[in-house]
Order: sequence, then structure tokens, then C-alpha cells
Amino acid sequence: MIDRIIRDDVEHVVDGFEHDTFAEKSVLITGGAGFLGSHLCDTLVALGAAVTCLDNFSTGLLKNVDHLLPKRGFRLVKEDVSNFKENEKFEFIFHFASRASPEEYQLYPVETLLANSRGSHNMLELARQHDSTILFASSSEVYGDPQVVPTPESYLGNINHLGARSCYVEGKRFSESLFMAFHRKYGLDMRIVRIFNTFGPRLRGDGFYARVLSRFILQALAGKRLTVYGDGSQTRSFCYITDLILGVLLVSSNVKARGEVLNLGSSQEIPILDAAKQVVTIVGSNPGLSFHPLPEDDPMRRCPDTGKAKEILEWEPQVSLENGLERTISWFRKQADGAS
Ligand SMILES: NC(=O)c1ccc[n+]([C@@H]2O[C@H](COP(=O)([O-])OP(=O)(O)OC[C@H]3O[C@@H](n4cnc5c(N)ncnc54)[C@H](O)[C@@H]3O)[C@@H](O)[C@H]2O)c1
Repeated sequence: MIDRIIRDDVEHVVDGFEHDTFAEKSVLITGGAGFLGSHLCDTLVALGAAVTCLDNFSTGLLKNVDHLLPKRGFRLVKEDVSNFKENEKFEFIFHFASRASPEEYQLYPVETLLANSRGSHNMLELARQHDSTILFASSSEVYGDPQVVPTPESYLGNINHLGARSCYVEGKRFSESLFMAFHRKYGLDMRIVRIFNTFGPRLRGDGFYARVLSRFILQALAGKRLTVYGDGSQTRSFCYITDLILGVLLVSSNVKARGEVLNLGSSQEIPILDAAKQVVTIVGSNPGLSFHPLPEDDPMRRCPDTGKAKEILEWEPQVSLENGLERTISWFRKQADGAS
């Protein structure tokens, strides 16, 4: 059964989308059992698409999508994105398969590079074979430690291509280049989104899989000190899941986004320390903070210039960090209470 908070979020995105682009269309979502991919599966099923969810379950969870299994048109395929073959035509492909947590992808650098090279190539060939519209989930990490903030799509990056994070950064950059090559050489209809930190229900907060907000939330709920890297003055901008999913759907469906690269994220830039304080305030506990050395190549600032998405898609995030955190923390509380 789908959780009420997620169900309301899906309805909110469906109401906001206002197009029938995906109704009765065949859609492939790689990484569909992960955080973003599973919300995309829920939303596209609700929009009437026939959805194939492809995932190797390296970080994704069956419980994110098992409620969709009885739905008409929903299909779950357990396979690596580099090996998947299909004769059926997909009108739309969303390529989201990749490890995404910095601690975790550094443990699996080869797999991360392959999902973003062989995997991307396999998906592009599939899209070419069927003349599909394909969207790639790139990342703000392609900007490295940016010297221009808010960062526009035209910024070329400030990157350590040999560092510990390079498996992810260079994988995303290689994929972007490959997507552009298929667009230029074969006229393939492709779109690239550079996603900035996104959070919401289903974002894993456990162990190596954790992202910063989900880790803070789980620690605060457990009364444990919140892990802060560096002095916490480094900034991030956090986008709530509904805003991100609506942005992704608009990019995929709007003809003006064809062949384009677009930043998607919140432009509300805040220090990590302030994000930690917001979490403990909403949770209502005060377990304190535990400071640790800043990881290698951790960017000092991260905030998108979303002017292009605003102009092309008329898209802007609507959910405040406080409101998004309230929803996410409620969801984590229910998980801890054993409710689904
Ligand atoms: N969440 C964010 O804030 C964020 C920010 C920037 C970019 N992204 C990108 O969005 C995508 C999804 O991220 P997420 O946050 O949902 O992460 P996630 O780990 O929750 O989801 C990734 C999914 O991909 C699957 N996967 C990984 N390698 C695979 C492979 N080789 N074959 C098949 N499936 C594979 C995993 O099992 C998982 O279900 C990733 O490409 C990530 O780089 C996410």
C-alpha cells in the first residue's frame, strides 16, 4: 500500500502537470526502484503511462515499488542497465540508474562509472532503435566546486578528475557528452537535467546510502548527535521531491527542452549547519552536533541558477525547505513506528 504522504505528493504533481503527454505511452525508467525513480514510477502510472521499471537493486528497494506490481501496465525488471535489451518500443526513457550517495559510490567506483558509460550507451542505443525521447539524470556534481554561484548551465566546472568523487562526476560528464553526441550525430531527441540535492520520503538515511538530510533526520529521531562535516558553513540548496518530479516531467514533455541541458533544484541556498538546526527544531529534539573532517573535494557552495528552467518550462520550486522537511520527517516517523 502506498503511504498517504507519498500518495498526496503524487496527486499534487499530477494536478500540477496539466498535460496528457504520457497517457497510454510506454515508458522505461532505469533506477526505478530508487528514491527519484520510484516517485517517477508512481507519478507516471498515475498519469496513465505503461511503466517498465528497470533496476538492479544495488541501492533501490523493492518496497518502493511493490505496491505498483498489481497495477495494469506496470512491469518490474531486475537487471543491470548495461545489459537490458528490449524489442518493445518505449516512447519515453528516463535514465536514472546510478549509485548516488557519495559515501556509497566511492565504495563502488567502477560500477558507478559503468552505469554512467556502458549503461548510458545501452540506453541511448535503445532510444535510437525506437526513436524514443530520452532524458538523462545528471547532477550538480558536474560543476565540481563551482566558483560561480548560483551556477548556470553554461558554467564549465571546477573539477578534480582524479579525486575520490571523480567516478561519479566524470561518469555524469561522460554521459552528458554521449547524450550530446547522439543528439548531434543521429538527431536523437534527448534532454539532460542537472539535479541538485533533492529530498523527501524514501530518501535512504541508513549507513553508506545516506544523504545529508535523511541522515540528519534519522539521527535526530534516534536522539543521536547529527554528523556535520567541516564547520557546517558549506552551503547546499534542497529541493522537495514533488518540485523535482514535476520539473523532470516538464523537461521530458516540452519540445523546447529538446537537446537542452537544464538545472533543476531549489535556489534557496543555506549553510549545512542551518539545515541541521531546522531538522532538530522540527523533530523537537536537541541531541547536539558531532563535527568531522570535510571529505575530499566536498564543494563549499552549491546552488543552481534556475533561470533557464523558469524561462523554458515556467517551472520554479514551490515547496519551502521547512514544509518539505515537515512532510519528510512525518514520513520517517511513520516508518520508525512501523506504519507504511
Ligand atoms: N537525489 C538527488 O539529490 C540527486 C541529485 C543529483 C543527481 N541524482 C541522480 O538521480 C538518479 C537517481 O538518484 P536517487 O537519489 O534516486 O538514487 P537511488 O540510489 O535512490 O536510486 C538509484 C537507483 O538506480 C539503481 N541502479 C544503480 N546502478 C544500477 C545499474 N547498474 N543497473 C540498474 N539499476 C541501477 C539502484 O538500485 C537504485 O534503485 C541518479 O542517477 C543520481 O545520480 C540524484
